[in-house]
Amino acid sequence: MKNAIRLIILTLLTILSMSIIANAEDKLTVNIDGIPINYNDGAMPYISEKGNPMVPLSKTLQEFGATVTYDSNTREITVEKLNNSLIVPVDKQYIKVNGQNLILEEVTTIINGETMVEIMPVIHALRCAVNFQAQENILSIENRATYELLNFVDVVPDWAENPTPKIPVTTKQDLTGKKLIALTYDDGPNGESTSIILDVLKQNNAKATFFMLGQNVYNFKDQTIRTVNEGHEVANHSYSHKKLTSLGVNQLKQEIQNTQTAISSVTGVTPTLLRVPYGAFNQTVKANAGLPIIQWNIDTLDWKTRSASKTVESVLSTAKDGDIILMHNIHMSTAEATKTLVPELIKRGYTLVTVSELAQAKGVELQNGKVYNSFRK
Ligand code: NI
Repeated sequence: MKNAIRLIILTLLTILSMSIIANAEDKLTVNIDGIPINYNDGAMPYISEKGNPMVPLSKTLQEFGATVTYDSNTREITVEKLNNSLIVPVDKQYIKVNGQNLILEEVTTIINGETMVEIMPVIHALRCAVNFQAQENILSIENRATYELLNFVDVVPDWAENPTPKIPVTTKQDLTGKKLIALTYDDGPNGESTSIILDVLKQNNAKATFFMLGQNVYNFKDQTIRTVNEGHEVANHSYSHKKLTSLGVNQLKQEIQNTQTAISSVTGVTPTLLRVPYGAFNQTVKANAGLPIIQWNIDTLDWKTRSASKTVESVLSTAKDGDIILMHNIHMSTAEATKTLVPELIKRGYTLVTVSELAQAKGVELQNGKVYNSFRK
């Protein structure tokens, strides 16, 4: 009898958890020039788990005055509107715009006979305005040409060609009330010293943030992918380590954007943090960063001393809850320091987390163009 009751409770719990999963993808209203589209039969638009509006492609774009044709041989949909055209391949994670490829965050799939596509990049590629109000679940498309063409990625990475479901990087561990420190490593990836640091972090179940140079990402693809796979945060440190305050706006944006492209095309993850080379910023950099600017409050000067013991000492003598520590993973002395530092900080009661985790745990909502030195309370 007891077993029967257990079974009933277990079944109820399973049904309950299944319905929670089903609700994870929210319904969405799509307006064109203020008028809602009536998707009365077939697939309905929804918001993906990553927060991207997903819509039935044909129905939506026909309402939008575009021509939509499907080629069953190539499994590609061609969309044409005025002088703009683009191709949406089914079961892929990119679209082709004017012969170039634009990587998407979501795979284009067929649901109930309708192709569901991540719509925002499609509308942008047609140079029209689109606005998504996440709180109200309303997507507003305007038939008004406004957009300049985006910077396109022209190489389709393996994961976009043959997409597999990705495991979210965010840690689910409860960080409330814990003493937290964010170790940060700049200027890589680079080879041996980075590998040692990754080994140490893994052995100690610690997480860190790696501010990468775009030009190194292409040279050390495997290491970049390893960094993501092991749950660390990959972040932007410009493409070629130029002092951003000495650049014009276009060049500055290029230094940042090219690294976003490098990291996302190699790993599938788009960075959400920027560390400016030499810590140098001004109003122009802040206005054009497009990402929160992460500085530090403990500078180990590891690049200068090249001494493992001095690097360790500079941290242990001052470290407190909420700190961001600056190091460089391109030096063997820093790799050596990491071997001591990581277990010692853990022994002293600290949990080592990424910068984004630290900010979130301290209740700070990071804002683009704003500068952060630490999250000490
Ligand atoms: Ni640097």
